[in-house]
Amino acid sequence: MFLEKMLQSQGLGSRKHCQLLIKNGAVSIDGETLINPKHKLNLNNLEFTVHGETYQYREKVYIALNKPRGYECSHQATHHFSVFDLFDDALMNRGIQCVGRLDQDTTGLLLLTDDGQFLQALTHPKKHVAKVYCMNTADPVTTEQMAQLEQGVELRNESGIFAATNVQRLAEYQLQMTVHQGVYHQVKRMLAAVGNKVEQLHRKQIGKLGLTDLSGLQEGEWTYLSAAQIEMAKFREV
Ligand code: URA
Repeated sequence: MFLEKMLQSQGLGSRKHCQLLIKNGAVSIDGETLINPKHKLNLNNLEFTVHGETYQYREKVYIALNKPRGYECSHQATHHFSVFDLFDDALMNRGIQCVGRLDQDTTGLLLLTDDGQFLQALTHPKKHVAKVYCMNTADPVTTEQMAQLEQGVELRNESGIFAATNVQRLAEYQLQMTVHQGVYHQVKRMLAAVGNKVEQLHRKQIGKLGLTDLSGLQEGEWTYLSAAQIEMAKFREV
């Protein structure tokens, strides 16, 4: 791939802008400044530097964010911050999107990518990728509510039954459960359907990928996923 095309593919600007970066001597590889926009590159394990900042070439990006409270998953957030405020221009230029949505007041694991196939694989209703949520509830969690969640509940304006698996009471007012779809406000509506209310919601895991697999990722921090972690996120029971 030509140098100018590679820079453009990594979100560093338009073709014209990337040509200028190169011609102005801002781009180097292995310590050598490259001034020919048509310089041919081997993309394997490629690292490059632009204005002193080092980047690794990535064909696609797969990101895990430990989402804080008060951030919306939309680009034009109205009453809160946008999760996209947490990413730099190069990632935004690549057109990263949220893989499913978390409400502004939900915390925890949120994936973002510019790979449309990965996004589809995780969000398509037929794929049933498991998502594990922990929540604080307004009222004590009863055995009856847990049984109802496992049997499944109906949600207004949605077809079918929504059932949770691995429903566990962690404390009198704290519940953990796994859901297999991803409809709007699903967990909050499921809890309302059994007569309780979610006060605080946190996503711990997607597929087999848990926040604990992401070496201490703190709230508001993000990281690139490794190839193995990408597969863990896609994992679904058959
Ligand atoms: N279910 C909800 O109700 N909210 C979320 O943010 C995620 C799942």
